[in-house]
Amino acid sequence: MIGGQWLAVFRAICCRPSTGHRPPATGNRSPITDNLAFTRKDLLGIRELSVEEIETILDSAGSFKEISLRSIKKVPTLRGKTIINFFFESSTRTRTSFEIAAKRLSADTINISASNSSVTKGESLIDTARNLQAMAPDAIVIRHPSPGVPHQLARMVDASIINGGDGAHEHPTQALLDAFTIREHKGRIAGLQVAIIGDIMHSRVARSNTHLLTKLGAHVRIAGPRTLIPPHYQSIIEDSEGSLTVCNHIEEAITGSDVVMMLRIQRERMSAAFLPSLREYAVEYGLTLRRLELAASDCIVMHPGPINRGIEISSEVVDGARSLILDQVSNGVAVRMAVLFLLVGIES
Ligand code: CP
Repeated sequence: MIGGQWLAVFRAICCRPSTGHRPPATGNRSPITDNLAFTRKDLLGIRELSVEEIETILDSAGSFKEISLRSIKKVPTLRGKTIINFFFESSTRTRTSFEIAAKRLSADTINISASNSSVTKGESLIDTARNLQAMAPDAIVIRHPSPGVPHQLARMVDASIINGGDGAHEHPTQALLDAFTIREHKGRIAGLQVAIIGDIMHSRVARSNTHLLTKLGAHVRIAGPRTLIPPHYQSIIEDSEGSLTVCNHIEEAITGSDVVMMLRIQRERMSAAFLPSLREYAVEYGLTLRRLELAASDCIVMHPGPINRGIEISSEVVDGARSLILDQVSNGVAVRMAVLFLLVGIES
């Protein structure tokens, strides 16, 4: 128990009957936890989440954020729980912030990367998952270059699976921390104009954010080279019921926007020549102070990181007054604390 903090979390969580994602209460749940709007075993993507579930995570993160402002940044909420970070791709922010979030909640954490696991000796993902399950972890955060791997793992193990990014598919905690940051600075998400610009094709961040922001009532405009806007966005446009527009150039997307979210060119995922050159890309699609003048006067600038200064975004914008790039990183810890708490901190 973390005293007032628990109460704050519970007060912030709206009431909704169990959706049946977790087993029904067996007798030791409190009337409060029985009514939580988040009853899933896993967090695999934003597409399948309801508005109530998203708001439950964001409201809970608001309560957890205060813990990181204390001189002793630790509460016993997840004492005795074990969280494995299993990363098959490099990461600075996601892996570190999941580890910090787990440690601030007093969970035990283990980090495994592909290069230091027995995957390098030929062990399959299924056998690796079975072996991890045999050690009874409570949650596994997985990042993998192949879309769908977290979903496969979730079917195979009892532990809660959290998608830390699966190829170009989804990065749900990034979209949640982005939404938390927007809400913190704008007070709302509904009705905002959000421009998402860059390498849409290879961006799990763009996909998760598009699902989340349109669900919560924002209007999203995407822009990027036509070669980097994938055909499957047509189905997302149809799902979004008019809340998503594909723009022909960056100026059209930015004009009047409340939020501008820039994306990195993911050269490591490109199997073909999608761009003439990075120099040309920077000229056509880079965010400069001059282009930012087209946005709303109180527009905020976001980027999931890692940033490539001088390519998709100029240094003046990165370090400027409108940039919330490091706020996003700070908020990532609070959002991941909330996700861990909602998945493994409530006894069924
Ligand atoms: N935003 C993000 O996922 O960063 P990392 O790749 O450093 O985790």
